[in-house]
Amino acid sequence: MYGEKVMDHFENPRNQGTIEDADGIGEVGNPQCGDIMKIYIKVSDDIIEDVKFQTFGCGAAIASSSMATEMIKGKPVKEAWDLSNKAVADALEGLPPQKLHCSVLAEEAIHKAINDYRTRNGLEPWEETGGHSHHSN
Ligand code: FES
Repeated sequence: MYGEKVMDHFENPRNQGTIEDADGIGEVGNPQCGDIMKIYIKVSDDIIEDVKFQTFGCGAAIASSSMATEMIKGKPVKEAWDLSNKAVADALEGLPPQKLHCSVLAEEAIHKAINDYRTRNGLEPWEETGGHSHHSN
């Protein structure tokens, strides 16, 4: 049911693991399936210098976190914030409709990690807008 790209990221996940001295950590769970995703970020000069993930979940969730970490690594924090679950699913060349929510976990976990980083540094957390403007690049 998964495409090649999804299988590749599921079988060879990029950036899997933890960051000991992370600047921000975001953990989210999906109450329906019980899957959990954790994102660790290391920020320097407003750039996501390093990012790692731990996902205890389905193949689509693992592939989404792998792809999402690749997409935000080396990017400004704001750009990482703007990464939508749709962009992640598109980069994976599509997810089955019943698996789209799995990619939402990645977006949410990144948001939590960024706001964790912001509050740790005395900055206002950014607000979830609920609907993202989808940048096509
Ligand atoms: Fe739970 Fe995919 S089924 S995140």
